[in-house]
Amino acid sequence: TIYPVILCGGAGSRLWPLSREFHPKPLLAVGGEKTLLQETVLRLGEVSNIQNPILVCNEEHRFLIADQLLKIGKKFDSIILEPKGRDTAPALTIATLDIVQRDPEAVVVVMPADQMIPDMSNFSRLVEQAAVLSDSGSLVTFGVVPDRAETGYGYIKRGQVLSETRAYLVDKFVEKPDKETAKRYLESGDYYWNAGIFVLRADVWLNEINEHRPIILKACETSMQGKTLDSGFMRIGSESFLSCPAESIDYSVMENTGNAVVLPLPLSWSDVGSWSSIWNLLDQDESGNVKKGDVICHETKGSLIMSESRCVATVGLEDIIIVETSDAVLVANKNRAQDVKAIVSHLKSRG
Ligand code: GDD
Ligand code: MG
Repeated sequence: TIYPVILCGGAGSRLWPLSREFHPKPLLAVGGEKTLLQETVLRLGEVSNIQNPILVCNEEHRFLIADQLLKIGKKFDSIILEPKGRDTAPALTIATLDIVQRDPEAVVVVMPADQMIPDMSNFSRLVEQAAVLSDSGSLVTFGVVPDRAETGYGYIKRGQVLSETRAYLVDKFVEKPDKETAKRYLESGDYYWNAGIFVLRADVWLNEINEHRPIILKACETSMQGKTLDSGFMRIGSESFLSCPAESIDYSVMENTGNAVVLPLPLSWSDVGSWSSIWNLLDQDESGNVKKGDVICHETKGSLIMSESRCVATVGLEDIIIVETSDAVLVANKNRAQDVKAIVSHLKSRG
C-alpha cells in the first residue's frame, strides 16, 4: 500500500511578498484556480493502492490546510502539526514513524506542495513504477532533464542502468550547487534535476536517517512519544521536536546514501519555488514579459510584473521582477530570484 506524505510546511520565503507567514506558498494559486496544495492532492488521485494523504504542516496553518482539502472534496488521513518547521528530513521522519506503526511494509510517496505537473495520469503510472522499484530497498527519485543552470535544485548524476527498468543507479547527488558547478553539470549531460518527489519504504527511510543523521531520528522518536490526536490533527512533543536540527531530505540522506535510484520524469514539471520559475512557467507575451493585474510596460523585456493593488508601469527594463502588494513591493533582478529569501531574514531581524 502506498501512503502519500505531503510536505506543506515551508515558508516559501523566495516568493515574498506574495507568500507570507499567514499565507504560505502551498496556498498560492499559480496560473489556474486551484492552489498548489490542491493540485498536489489531486495529482495522486489516480495512483492504484493509494491511501488518503498525510499532510505535515505548521501548527498555525492547520485550518487553512484542512480547508483546502475540504474545498475539493478530498479526505485526508491525518494532518501532522509541527510547532515550528525543522525542514523536510524531520517532517518525513515523523510521518514515517507514524506510518510504519500501522503498516511495517508501507511505501511512502513524499510530495512537495509547490509544484506543477499537468499530466496527472502519466505521473500516476510513474509513481506506481517507482513503488515497485522501492520494494527492494531503494530510495527512488525522479529526474528532470535540466534546461538551465538553475542553482535552486538538487542535481543527480546518472549511473548504471538498472536492468529491465527505465531507472538508473544514482552515482552522485548534489543539492543546490553553485552557479559554476550547475553550468558544468548542465553541459556534461550526465545530470538530472531532482524533482523533489521521493518514493521509499517507510522502514528504509528510518534506517537511512538512523545511519546518516541519528540525532534527527532520536529527536523525532522522542517527539512521537508525546503525540496526541485531535479530530485528524496529530500533535507531537514540542520540546524534543524543536531540539531537532533543521535539515532537508536532500542534505541529510540523499547526498550520503548509496541506495538511491533515479527514474526519469519525461513530463512537464515545474517547481514554483521562486519568481524566476513562475516567470518560466506562465505564458509570456511577445517581449517575454509575464504581466498580472494593472500593469503597463513600455520597452520592457523578459520581466515578471505583478500588481495586486496599484497600477505598475515600467520603462526600459530587462529581466526584472516586480511584485506589488498593498503593503510591500519587491523589485529584483530576475537572475537573483533565489536570493529573495534574504529579504525575509532582513525583515525578521528588524522585528
Ligand atoms: N512540513 C514541512 N516542514 N514542510 C516543509 C518544511 C518544514 O519544515 N520545509 C519545507 N517544506 C515543504 C515545502 O513547503 C515544499 O512543499 C517541500 O517541503 C520542499 O521544500 P522546499 O523548501 O520547496 O525545497 P526546495 O525546492 O528548496 O528543494 C527541494 O525541491 C527541489 C525541486 O523542487 C529539493 O528536494 C531539491 O533537491 C529539488 O530539486
Ligand atoms: Mg521547492
